[in-house]
Amino acid sequence: MTSETVPLNTVPVNTVPVNTVPVNTVPVNTVPLNTVPLNTVPVNTVPYDVEAVRGDFPILTRTVRNGKPLVYLDSGATSQHPTVVLDAEREYYERHNAAAHRGTHLLGEEATEIYEGARAKVAAFLGAASPDEIVFTKSATESTNLVPWQQLALRTGATLRWFKSLPDGRLDVDPSLVTSRTKVVAVTGQSNVTGVIPPVAEIGELAHSVGALFLVDGAQSVPHHPVSVADLDVDFLAFSGHKMLGPLGLGVLYGKYAALDALPPFLTGGSMIEVVRMEETTFLPPPARFEPGVPAVSLAAGLGAAVDYLTALGMENVAAHEESLTAHALDALRAIDGVRILGPDTTKDRGGTVAFEVDGVHAHDVGQVLDELGVAIRTGHHCAWPLHRSLGCQASNRASFYIYNTPSEVDALADGVRYAKQFFKAVLARGDDPPEPPGAGPMKGKDIGPAAQGPEHQPPSSRCRRHYAA
Ligand SMILES: Cc1ncc(COP(=O)(O)O)c(C=O)c1O
Repeated sequence: MTSETVPLNTVPVNTVPVNTVPVNTVPVNTVPLNTVPLNTVPVNTVPYDVEAVRGDFPILTRTVRNGKPLVYLDSGATSQHPTVVLDAEREYYERHNAAAHRGTHLLGEEATEIYEGARAKVAAFLGAASPDEIVFTKSATESTNLVPWQQLALRTGATLRWFKSLPDGRLDVDPSLVTSRTKVVAVTGQSNVTGVIPPVAEIGELAHSVGALFLVDGAQSVPHHPVSVADLDVDFLAFSGHKMLGPLGLGVLYGKYAALDALPPFLTGGSMIEVVRMEETTFLPPPARFEPGVPAVSLAAGLGAAVDYLTALGMENVAAHEESLTAHALDALRAIDGVRILGPDTTKDRGGTVAFEVDGVHAHDVGQVLDELGVAIRTGHHCAWPLHRSLGCQASNRASFYIYNTPSEVDALADGVRYAKQFFKAVLARGDDPPEPPGAGPMKGKDIGPAAQGPEHQPPSSRCRRHYAA
């Protein structure tokens, strides 16, 4: 996807035949994006070309840890960025930078168009009824704080109840927990630990049957599979742009207009006021009510480009690609003695986040050995302590897949985990020589493992030996 043949400024986004136009040449910021009709972007029907996708991500060509190829399996934490997203931000600063919604000059107009265009794209991506239902925030964290629950319960004395998780990490949706006294029901769209995709629409029906508001945390679902706010009938949906190819620092809160309109502002300042007197101030309607200050237009430009990119790939295709990687990872990890997968061991109603424990080896040590091999995963409790407790686990390793990952990267993960196991077995045996590092997957034939590190590098052995010999 690197052809230079499509003339910029001539291809309207919504008429691009997805199968023939390289994703990274669509001019994102030059089309009046708020006129893109909803649901008209054709879904790509050609086989998914992961190598072409990888070609759009400059960071994937870099090497790490003494020349090893980067195997980035941490997109659940934050995704990487295609050139079109980087270009959109750069182009904004080079040609259009101004305070959106404030200037009467041309640049101000352009900045406003880009900002509102991005809002319209996000609305179309989610199947929202109107761009006015999209609020730009800093992050999913900020978005969910607009609709608080634990803190609210502490402040008001409301009772907080929760669905339990079953041994395989699926949600035990117990309807008796939702009663006529329930005001808000919140659920994740996809677990950032187990990958579980709960029955969101069913839980929404339960919430609405008692008149409660329904909030979905879409931080791990919106980037990975088609999400329609209309089909799911959510009142609020929160997510972060940076987990879906967009820039760090911009999140989204979708809200049904009436639900948003019923909320007071959570921050006050310029751009969200209607009439200001010394004694009293009134506020603009949503979404402006929740967007005080000069808008983050460059970030919105980047997020708009990210939405275009994902739309051109087709979210069904994204989901199918991740499903095949997940199936491969489940098979590969299941085959390793002493590895316990946290979460369902099939891909049914499950996304591309695979958390696991390695018997006898702390997650941080597994992560460190994998890092030496160039494989980036996340370790810890992933902001999900209660879930880890309920799964009987202190900390886990988490690989999370995205559009640019390949089966051979999954093999590199499995080889690395196998190697970590052997490595720590040798450490535990106090003095055995460490095993030979793996030679499969993208690392085949490369010098990898602690023995191959340069003199400036401290291998994990000394640190880990101390830990395990204690
Ligand atoms: C399920 C889920 N919700 C919310 C968040 C918070 O996202 P952010 O840190 O971008 O605010 C995360 C981040 O990892 C997440 O996985």
